[in-house]
Amino acid sequence: MTETVLLVGGGGREHAIARAVAGSESAELYACASNRNPGIASLAAGYRELDETDGDSIVEYAESVGATLSAIGPESALNAGVADALDDAGVYAFGPREAEARIETDKAFQREFMIEESIPGCPDFETFEDGEAAAAYIREYDGDLAIKPRGLTGGKGVRVIGDQITESEGIEYVLESEYDAFVLEERLVGEEFTIQAFVANGEYRVSPAVQDHKRAYEGDEGPNTGGMGSYSDATNALPFMTAAEYDAAVDVIDAVVEAMPEYKGVLYGQFMLTTDGPRVVEFNARFGDPEAMNTLPILETDFVEFLIAAREGEELPELAFSDRATVCKYAVPDGYPVDPEAGAKVAIDAESAGEATLFYASVDAREDGIYTTTSRSFAVVGVAESIREAEAIVEDAFERTGTEGLRVRHDIGTSDLLEKRIDHMNELRD
Ligand code: AMP
Ligand code: GLY
Repeated sequence: MTETVLLVGGGGREHAIARAVAGSESAELYACASNRNPGIASLAAGYRELDETDGDSIVEYAESVGATLSAIGPESALNAGVADALDDAGVYAFGPREAEARIETDKAFQREFMIEESIPGCPDFETFEDGEAAAAYIREYDGDLAIKPRGLTGGKGVRVIGDQITESEGIEYVLESEYDAFVLEERLVGEEFTIQAFVANGEYRVSPAVQDHKRAYEGDEGPNTGGMGSYSDATNALPFMTAAEYDAAVDVIDAVVEAMPEYKGVLYGQFMLTTDGPRVVEFNARFGDPEAMNTLPILETDFVEFLIAAREGEELPELAFSDRATVCKYAVPDGYPVDPEAGAKVAIDAESAGEATLFYASVDAREDGIYTTTSRSFAVVGVAESIREAEAIVEDAFERTGTEGLRVRHDIGTSDLLEKRIDHMNELRD
């Protein structure tokens, strides 16, 4: 039987999901998003531009194409109850309902849930409903704090004292930013990594760890972004961690799934590998962007078969990944994220990317070509035996096609940066 799968969202992450769906034997893909992603459009039998948070319009489109399954990419849609709307209309959504998505969308809920359910790895934290009380806490606290606005901020709301900002800048931030409710928590020190688990019916399957690069500029300088690029190794673990540390992070995911048996979709654990093992930086209720572009290209299990098993309440298939390393680098407009300049013509296409795979994100497809907008433009992914070889594949694609009007963190996945990560962990362990 052929399934009709509706994909919600139009970024690089969703282009990766679209490829996974389109690569299935048993599915036809439809998509809807607020932008027209040319990569997704080329794979889909139909595409509707609509507001990703508008559950009614999404359900109407799902029904008009006869969707039997749906996959939701962005957290904004989950936060708006789009999974609930699709489920309630009889279109199984691979994505949590609004109540479970709070594990991402409400950071106070996330931490309180961890305490109530004894989920391992929770940092010390306090929640605040107003900036004055948060400021008083920062003044009194002995040590560095991470300051998190309680709700969604597109990955750009967190400030870490002692890392990006000073204590007095932290106080100013809670008093003067547009946010009013905050979680203040112990600053975790170590190396960050992500594990994305595919969850349904109280069961889960994990994928290899990925390391994202949040800072805008090379050498981990500059403001935080949605993520500039990421890599994974040919094993589940990363070069700076042991297999046992990977397993300790999976134990955290295990505890969350047990405590939230209704959860379905991707559970994304963001961990800090510290000298006390992995601690939880946050949970997200969806694939990571860029991390989906590391994980889905090496997934050998049929993604749609997985969704069918989830919908039918059958035992979830094991996930098989090819034992390959991946490197993903985003090209972003010049000036991103502070003062991005849109309108550069994108020179690369699927063919000129050569051995690398191209994923479109926020681009504007016009009659005479594809142009940048003010958000991340496209990502280039290399898959190979080693991180070093995967990195070379990505750089080769950029060298051949050029990056005029664009900026890339060329350091992602290089041996130099990997050495720095390994040295950093070794220094902490000493
Ligand atoms: P988020 O928006 O929650 O993904 O957080 C953005 C980034 O802030 C994370 O990727 C971390 O680099 C950093 N961060 C968040 N919480 C902490 C913490 N408790 N300690 C240190 N860094 C943190
Ligand atoms: N890569 C970070 C995120 O998807 O939130």
